[in-house]
Amino acid sequence: MVVEKNAPLQPWNTFGIAARAQTLVRVRSVSDLLTVLADAQLAQAPKFVLGGGSNIILTGDVKPVVLKMEIKGLRLVEETAKAWIVEAGAGEVWNDCVAWTLAQGFPGLENLALIPGTVGASPVQNIGAYGVELQDRFETLDALDLLTGQTFTLDAAQCGFGYRDSVFKHAPAGGQEVGDLPRGMGLAGRAVITHVRFRLPKPWKPVLGYLDLERRRVEAGVENPSAQQIYDWICDIRRAKLPDPAVVGNAGSFFKNPTVSPDQCADIIAREPKIVHYPMPDGSIKLAAGWLIDACGWKGKSIGKAGVYEKQALVLVNRGHGADSVTGGEVMTLAKAIQTSVYERFGIRLEPEPVVV
Ligand code: EPU
Repeated sequence: MVVEKNAPLQPWNTFGIAARAQTLVRVRSVSDLLTVLADAQLAQAPKFVLGGGSNIILTGDVKPVVLKMEIKGLRLVEETAKAWIVEAGAGEVWNDCVAWTLAQGFPGLENLALIPGTVGASPVQNIGAYGVELQDRFETLDALDLLTGQTFTLDAAQCGFGYRDSVFKHAPAGGQEVGDLPRGMGLAGRAVITHVRFRLPKPWKPVLGYLDLERRRVEAGVENPSAQQIYDWICDIRRAKLPDPAVVGNAGSFFKNPTVSPDQCADIIAREPKIVHYPMPDGSIKLAAGWLIDACGWKGKSIGKAGVYEKQALVLVNRGHGADSVTGGEVMTLAKAIQTSVYERFGIRLEPEPVVV
């Protein structure tokens, strides 16, 4: 276990915001976590779990002890006639895990290529892209309860997955023991995910319905693409429209795509015939937040060093660098201005997607 004091967090958040952690612990194994809990001072302190830092906005220095997850390992744990079950350490880079499964001949995660962040963060916000969500390929995960030091395993139902949501994003209701977890009980700040297992079904079937992907398939003239081809196309699509955090700091989509009732949608369409909307299986209608923000004229605009990406209005970016970086406060000022515009024009409240710390 490595403990750092007054540790810079700028290298550890993809927005590149300059902030510090009073105490940062590099966690490389479950036993490192147990060592933290056995330490009189560290055990008592509030904790903040940091994965790849790709879905957080730091609005100041972080007082809770930062547990930086660096648990590694990728392995096939089981192969049956119906699936490959693969396990990854929480500290593996998400895309390394996707690329590794494909290289081993276990397809199924290719639509989730190039999503920034780590494996341990992937269930927290139930990452999703191009027609696949993590919950579609999820088997179980192992976590450690920071209150009791107990390790436990959760299945998909216990994780309470929703659209970019899970029990790991919600504060504990207080008092309950981790065990038979009712849906909706929060585990934020209480549970640390250590390993995630994925179920990659056999026979593999490509998921191609998404417009951008279909366009690529037709352009390439390929009837039945391989998982590797889909992976390559998705990497190209993402690189073309999303900024590389190594070059321009960002946290992916900044707002969730809002859902409205068919009545609300009909009302909006009457006023805004061009609005991008998708009917959902439950009868609600999802609107493209990027389109709403774009329609309000925000694309390419900035407030201070916080900007709206030129090619995708749903992505807020850091227009500063290094010591001259954007602050979390500036990002939130821009986010609030966007929320106000969208509310005034469409009557829709956009909800931020990253965790604001
Ligand atoms: N649009 C605009 N202007 C914009 C941005 C988008 O008009 O500036 C329109 C597009 O033309 C399109 C629609 O809005 O018709 C949707 O845009 P896009 O296909 O880019 O997808 P998205 O809904 O903006 C979601 C996820 C992404 C994921 C993509 C692909 C959320 C919040 N975002 O974006 O996930 O990569 O779909 O599946 O659900 C992330 O969560 O960080 C993320 C990048």
